[in-house]
Amino acid sequence: MVFTATVGGKQVPCHPDQAILDAFLRGGVWMPNSCNQGTCGTCKVRVLRGEVDHRDSPADTLAPDERAAGLALACQARLRSDAVVEPSGPGAGTAGRDTHPLRDLDTTVVDIEDIARDTRRVRLGLTDPLAFHPGQYVELAVPGSGVRRQYSLANTADEDKVLELHVRLVEGGAATERWIFDGLAVGDRVRAAGPLGDFFLAPADEDGGEPMVMIGGGTGLAPLIALARTALTRDPGRQILLYHGVRGAADLYDLDLMARLGETHPGFTFVPVLSHEDPPPGTAHRTGLPTDLFVDDVASARGWSGWLCGPPPMVEAGVKAFKRRRMAPRLIHREKFTPADA
Ligand code: FES
Repeated sequence: MVFTATVGGKQVPCHPDQAILDAFLRGGVWMPNSCNQGTCGTCKVRVLRGEVDHRDSPADTLAPDERAAGLALACQARLRSDAVVEPSGPGAGTAGRDTHPLRDLDTTVVDIEDIARDTRRVRLGLTDPLAFHPGQYVELAVPGSGVRRQYSLANTADEDKVLELHVRLVEGGAATERWIFDGLAVGDRVRAAGPLGDFFLAPADEDGGEPMVMIGGGTGLAPLIALARTALTRDPGRQILLYHGVRGAADLYDLDLMARLGETHPGFTFVPVLSHEDPPPGTAHRTGLPTDLFVDDVASARGWSGWLCGPPPMVEAGVKAFKRRRMAPRLIHREKFTPADA
């Protein structure tokens, strides 16, 4: 039996064991989504008609009174009948638009490179190009474990036949210590799915061209590289201030790329920030927390957009810092790297 799910007048087939969000995205119908794990609430919908099974929707994200009021998490809930839903959170107005469809991907490892302390760049080749918005992520299936892990794409949308991931070793991690840092080799096949997530620029014809500030923690730099390069291709003179926060100088990577972007684009500024070390002699690295340095550096971010990617405490501090500098909440974009691998 297959049900029909409807949002914004668009209909997709939805199997009883398929999450509602998965059905829409595979059908090429946009619905706001971020974590796809039931923790962020971005995919919350109001069920206008029909019945759903909430499955493992956490009460922290979907409170009992919200369930009773007809709300559901689209990334967790399954249909028990045909249904009509409407998103209830920020971004609801974009639901029902056409989007790049979510697909299963059969990939092959084409390159593995150690780029910083406990950090690898992994490139996955595709047979068919993947259409995605720069900044989105893919999910990898960890062989033999039933575990899936999410990694942001560092490549731009025109680099659509090789997916670039930046992976940080997590002690004991099923995907990292026991796979990507132990045994994964060039030529291995890797099953994946994507694209996913809402951490991306508006389409070119809706892009306001506003100044951007980006703050990435560790491998949270990956999607920011994709976003910055995309924005600078659209407008080579765009003002972009990118902070990369890490513990020590050994954790920094892609400094050459950042230097090249700065040389080619006078509006682009890259700020490497070390939280646990003084800057090595002869470098312009800074010490502290990137969110604090932003507050010191920028008197007003009114009209700017903000892009935060990294550990949840850094993202939360960034939201506060941006608001303190008068950035409009609707222009604050965030991608939290939650430590599922731990
Ligand atoms: S709770 Fe569904 S996308 Fe985060």
